[in-house]
Amino acid sequence: MYESFYKTLEELLIVPVVVLDSESQAAPMADALMAAGMCSAEVTFRTDAAAGSIRAMRDAQPKMHVGAGTVLTVGQADAAIASGAEFIVSPGFDAEVVSHCIEREVPVLPGTVTPSEVSAARKLGLTVTKFFPAAQYGGLDTIKALCAPFVGHRFMPTGGVSKANLADYLGSDSIVAVGGTWMVKPALFADGDFSQVERLAAEAMAAAHAVRG
Ligand code: 3PG
Repeated sequence: MYESFYKTLEELLIVPVVVLDSESQAAPMADALMAAGMCSAEVTFRTDAAAGSIRAMRDAQPKMHVGAGTVLTVGQADAAIASGAEFIVSPGFDAEVVSHCIEREVPVLPGTVTPSEVSAARKLGLTVTKFFPAAQYGGLDTIKALCAPFVGHRFMPTGGVSKANLADYLGSDSIVAVGGTWMVKPALFADGDFSQVERLAAEAMAAAHAVRG
């Protein structure tokens, strides 16, 4: 299931986790990320601007892969999909949200950090899940341990992924792509200037390509 989306994730390498307070930040954020070669964004439903920002990013950069993050309810999933979200990400595993996205044929990446959670996700047909918060749950060591019994399962770790450990994660076949906030922290564009975002995103993509080609 979702094989073409998983292929896209592999190509994206890094999915920035974006928190926007205002929809007006969405287009310049999309422009900066695309200019840096970082062609996706996970726009989190932690602010009221999320749905409108997804729409605005897609309008500004139609080729960008824009998804929704921190999706905790079926209602949020529907709002995200209605705004044009191409994929849904949740911090944990909620069978109702996952099943709903599958029914709607929208790729979903629920968080799974235990064997039981990975099992539940695989039972619903998923072979790629998020691993969050990655640092606190043992990072790559835990991911490798989980992939021993769950042969072929892959993860998108977020939470503590940074310039410092990016290469370790992407060096593993168990990692489809990584996610993180280090190049899109709100303080970097609080003054409306997105050049720092573009610089850090370009730097991150160069480091990712150095590992994955
Ligand atoms: C999140 O969902 O909050 C991000 O995964 C956080 O990760 P960070 O460590 O990159 O901020």
